[in-house]
Amino acid sequence: MDKPYIFITRKLPEEVIAPLTELGQVTMWPYEDVPVAREVLLAEAKKADALLTMLSDRIDREVMEAGTNLKVVANMAVGFDNIDVPVATEYGVAVCNTPDVLNDTTADLTFALLLATARRLVEAAEYMKAGEWKSWSPFLLAGTDVHHKTIGIVGLGKIGQAVAKRAKGFEMNILYHNRTRNEEAERQLGAVYCTFPELLQTADFVVCLTPLTKETRHLFNRQAFQWMKRSAIFINVSRGAVVDEEALYEALVNGEIAAAGLDVFTKEPVDPSHPLLSLKNVVALPHIGSASKETRVNMMERSCRNIIAVLKGETPEALVNTEWLQHKRA
Ligand code: DGY
Repeated sequence: MDKPYIFITRKLPEEVIAPLTELGQVTMWPYEDVPVAREVLLAEAKKADALLTMLSDRIDREVMEAGTNLKVVANMAVGFDNIDVPVATEYGVAVCNTPDVLNDTTADLTFALLLATARRLVEAAEYMKAGEWKSWSPFLLAGTDVHHKTIGIVGLGKIGQAVAKRAKGFEMNILYHNRTRNEEAERQLGAVYCTFPELLQTADFVVCLTPLTKETRHLFNRQAFQWMKRSAIFINVSRGAVVDEEALYEALVNGEIAAAGLDVFTKEPVDPSHPLLSLKNVVALPHIGSASKETRVNMMERSCRNIIAVLKGETPEALVNTEWLQHKRA
């Protein structure tokens, strides 16, 4: 039997993908920092039994139609809003992701962003390097305290729970909002369930970790920002489109909220002329939630294991579309 054909949409380290090269014929897009060209993705999908994809690749009906042999799409991310999962299921293609291995790394970044925004770290560092520091003064770059404040986590999944653990260390009150209550997390973390408006009205730090779905698109709209305290700090480490960015900009400019820390944007990479980037009270990062070397390697390895399992006819460890088990492509 021919070896399975596997296409990887970014350049990944050879030693990390070695298990794939042992199993099949592997082709990689040759760049680490440039997304795969659409026409190349479509041409490769035509030949591929498996695709190892990034969150920047749009995996839609066109890709599924091209991929007549395709059996698995393994996304190197926990989020999979770049993939049309129902269409993949319709075509008998397994969709896999990389949960768990990035929980602590993403929670560390979330907390770092929260601290950086509250204590104005980026502004302070830029001020120093610009040679503007002339004297110590009582309110120079004074921010706001984090300890003993109230954090409101929207989306208390595993990353949200890891953020709550860190918040506990800062002796914060922990509120959360989720589609379903998590009584175990309530017991373990002392987190208190709230409705969405209650959380927004009470929290000093509103942290968005909810996945992007039809229901959560623009969840943070004008009304949501108006519900928040004028002193509130908004942190988003989920997906940009969960936020109406125009509404956020207006809320920041009109003083309806105090500041925002954003790791994600509706359109990535974000345009340097994006209005949010012009604001001093915005700390912006280029989607680096899970970006530690160790975790990125773990995510790559997990993606390889997902592909190998499907190609060997086994159930992958991180299957998004469990319905696929009944609709596998032969
Ligand atoms: C994910 O895994 O979905 C993250 O956004 C990547 O950092």
